[in-house]
Order: sequence, then structure tokens, then C-alpha cells
Amino acid sequence: MMNKNKGYVNQDYLNQAAQMFAPIKLDSYKKLQANHIQSLIDIGCGTGIDTTTIAQLYPELKNIIGVDFDKDMVEQADKLAEEKECSDRTRHQHANSYDLPFDDNSFDAVRAERLFMHLEDPEQALKEMVRVAKPGGRLVIVETDWASMSVNNGMDELERRTSHYFASEFLNNGYSARRLPGQLKAAGLEKVEIEIRSLQSYDYQLWLLLSQHSAMMHKALQNGFISQKEFEDWNKQLEISDMTKSFFSTINIMSFSCEV
Ligand SMILES: C[S@@+](CC[C@H](N)C(=O)[O-])C[C@H]1O[C@@H](n2cnc3c(N)ncnc32)[C@H](O)[C@@H]1O
Repeated sequence: MMNKNKGYVNQDYLNQAAQMFAPIKLDSYKKLQANHIQSLIDIGCGTGIDTTTIAQLYPELKNIIGVDFDKDMVEQADKLAEEKECSDRTRHQHANSYDLPFDDNSFDAVRAERLFMHLEDPEQALKEMVRVAKPGGRLVIVETDWASMSVNNGMDELERRTSHYFASEFLNNGYSARRLPGQLKAAGLEKVEIEIRSLQSYDYQLWLLLSQHSAMMHKALQNGFISQKEFEDWNKQLEISDMTKSFFSTINIMSFSCEV
């Protein structure tokens, strides 16, 4: 079961992130072969950014389903589909990725973006994705490799330590992206194509928001993972790098695609 307190993000966060992820999202639709399919499910669909964009980009695609564990997200996604005038082809429903309420072989394509980092049982979610996909259908997963985040503030050892804390403690499954190649193989999926893109940010405020950095550092301090001095020095260094316009961060986003 998902733990809502662990790195859980809200609707504003998803909308901000969508701008940065736009090229990766567009690529993922191509990997789904969205121009050749009739039915698609997006698991952990959030606010429906992808289901509704896919509906707009591919008018021939008639059956687009988004599922999410969070009822507020589902409501928001339906609202967005109404606004974008694609609710006749786009449906959102409340469901858990561990137990999808669909028959075997239901969809031509199955997609999940930034879902696996929240999952305590990624293997079960993968099993469900394979089960509901038609044989020969497309499977596409986009995931952030959180521990690949680099921040240039001169405190390199602490940077690696907090990065590990974020991936292993702050999130349920923050190392998910780098675990997926093995998990996909174990699920019987072959010829998985992996594309890795680096997102870069010179924008300290945007980075603060998207990395959930303050919440993570406070939690690391509370849990004794870093000392008060480290906490203060770290924040001071970040502010200096912002003021001197030397702030720079990168992170890898991995896209996995294959035939089921
Ligand atoms: C980081 S958001 C990504 C949302 C969307 N895919 C996007 O790219 O904008 C992760 C989403 O996964 C959903 N989620 C987390 N655990 C889930 C589960 N076990 N089953 C279904 N959805 C889940 C969350 O509610 C959240 O909306």
C-alpha cells in the first residue's frame, strides 16, 4: 500500500514538473506508438496531463483510461478532460496499480510515469501492467533516477549522503529507475529499450520545488541523518550559489519501452 507521507506530491507540483518533462512526455507517447493504437491505460495518471494531451495529439485513439490511487487526482483529471474537450475518449478512475480492475489483455498500450518511485511492491505493479496489456502491446515506463541528482555547492560528500537519504528513506522506492532493468527482465520482458535524458536546472527556486529539497533536509535533520551544523552549512552554500549565479543541478530521467 502506498504511504502518502513519503515524497507524495500535490497537483501544483505535477503541473510545474510537466513543463520540464514536456519533451520526455512527448517521446513517451511516440514509444507507445500512440498513432497506431486503439486503447491505452496510464497508471498513476495524476492530474491527467498525459491522458488528455495524448487525446488531443492522437484523435484516432478512442479509449484512453487513466487510473490513480488518489481520488482527488482522479477528479482533477476528469475536470481537465472536460476543459480540453476530450472527456468522450478519456476516462479516469480510482484504482491501485497493484490490483487493476481490468481484464487480462485489455489494452494496446500501458504507460506509467513517475509512479514506481512511490511503490513498495514494484514487481506486483509490473505484473499487473503486463497482465492488462495485450500480447504484442506496448509498455512504457518513465522514471526519475533520484540518486543521480547532482548539485554543485562544493559539499560533495554531504551531497552524496543526502542523495542516498532521499532515495532510500524519503521515498518508498527512490532507486526505482535503476532497479527497473532487472525487474523488467524478471517479468519476462525482452528487448527493453532504455533512453536516459538529463534534466538540467540553473533555477534554484524551481529546483527547490521539484526536488522537495527543504522537506527532505528537515526530515534528514529530524531523523539524525545529518547534523544541525551540516544542515546550516548546506543551506548557506546553496544560498551562496544562488546569489553568485553558480547554482547548477542535473538529474537523469529514464524511459523504458518494450513489447509485451
Ligand atoms: C509523481 S505523480 C506522477 C503523475 C503523472 N504520471 C504525471 O506524470 O504527471 C505519481 C502519481 O502516482 C499515484 N500513485 C502512487 N501510488 C499509486 C498506486 N499504488 N496506485 C495508483 N496510483 C498511485 C499518485 O497518486 C500520483 O498521482
